[in-house]
Amino acid sequence: MRILSGIQPSGSLHLGNYFGMMKKMIDYQQEGELFCFIANYHAMTSLADGKTLAKGTLEAAANFLALGLDPEKSTFWVQSDVPEVQELTWILSNFTPMGLLERCHSYKDKISRGIAANHGLFAYPVLMAADILLFNSDKVPVGKDQKQHVEVTRDIAIKINNHYGEIFTLPEPDIDDDVATVPGLDGQKMSKSYGNTIDLFLPENQLRKQIMRIVTDATPVEDPKDPDSCNVFQIYRLFLDKEEQAALRARYTAGGLSYGEVKQELFETMRDYFIPFTERRTAILEDKETLHKTLEMGAQKARYTASKVMRKVRKKAGLVY
Ligand code: ADP
Ligand code: TRP
Repeated sequence: MRILSGIQPSGSLHLGNYFGMMKKMIDYQQEGELFCFIANYHAMTSLADGKTLAKGTLEAAANFLALGLDPEKSTFWVQSDVPEVQELTWILSNFTPMGLLERCHSYKDKISRGIAANHGLFAYPVLMAADILLFNSDKVPVGKDQKQHVEVTRDIAIKINNHYGEIFTLPEPDIDDDVATVPGLDGQKMSKSYGNTIDLFLPENQLRKQIMRIVTDATPVEDPKDPDSCNVFQIYRLFLDKEEQAALRARYTAGGLSYGEVKQELFETMRDYFIPFTERRTAILEDKETLHKTLEMGAQKARYTASKVMRKVRKKAGLVY
């Protein structure tokens, strides 16, 4: 089974990115053939500063490697190092009805937030479809917000398969209900654009500050509390196994638990969980030469697989004459 996903290099990284996507990808290395990349072309739809994009790309790669992605075992690359993806985007565009893209929530959301509509933003799902189809991916782990884009990918693949014959594997979105949407400080979806994130790789004092800002209700300390409606519990449980969750649940319902106390525990748990990753990340970023070599090797591996698919597509499309 081939599993593929990408993440945009957008600077900071939060718990939603980690539990919604990255951790799953890293765990998948035990189960199948993993393809993972830094979506720097996609990031251009929201980032026009070249220096920031370049720096963010290297940092995003370091994040994944530090968190446990093994570049020998998996294929790990930067999107723009595999130019085949742009060629495939163009070919797919010719099978993509305007209506399909006009219906995309992510596009409509961005427009309604006042972001100027341009062709890059509109065609974003086609580039994403090319990422997925170029590697004949079976499974695509993403957060709920990206599910529609995987469905669009399937629609495009079906159209092309019907037209040219079976070329593409139909991908399945892979969404884990348990962590489908990691809530942010205010209980809404954790997202950079809502300013409600708890970030990875922060200095201790800043991490503690973020966690203390989690919004809680005004239930007095001595009263029983409802873990299911508590933002602290909903975040804390991501670090706990079933038994630990049950134990924490029992402390909530028994009464006598202060939110400050649980926040402090969450802070310590999260800090300890990420300490080894933070140290590894610093070491990776200090040795840029090795990092560049790792990414070069990844791009070569990715291009090897991509070129096999492209050979078939080009032939069917009449680009080989
Ligand atoms: P943001 O919303 O902060 O801009 P991105 O869109 O860059 O995050 O998301 C990168 C990846 O992390 C995607 O696969 C996305 O679905 C996942 N993701 C982001 N936020 C969350 C969340 N709160 N819960 C679950 N997954 C998330
Ligand atoms: N659009 C995805 C996001 O913002 C990133 C992405 C780009 C992606 N290409 C992909 C995810 C292909 C999965 C498969 O999160």
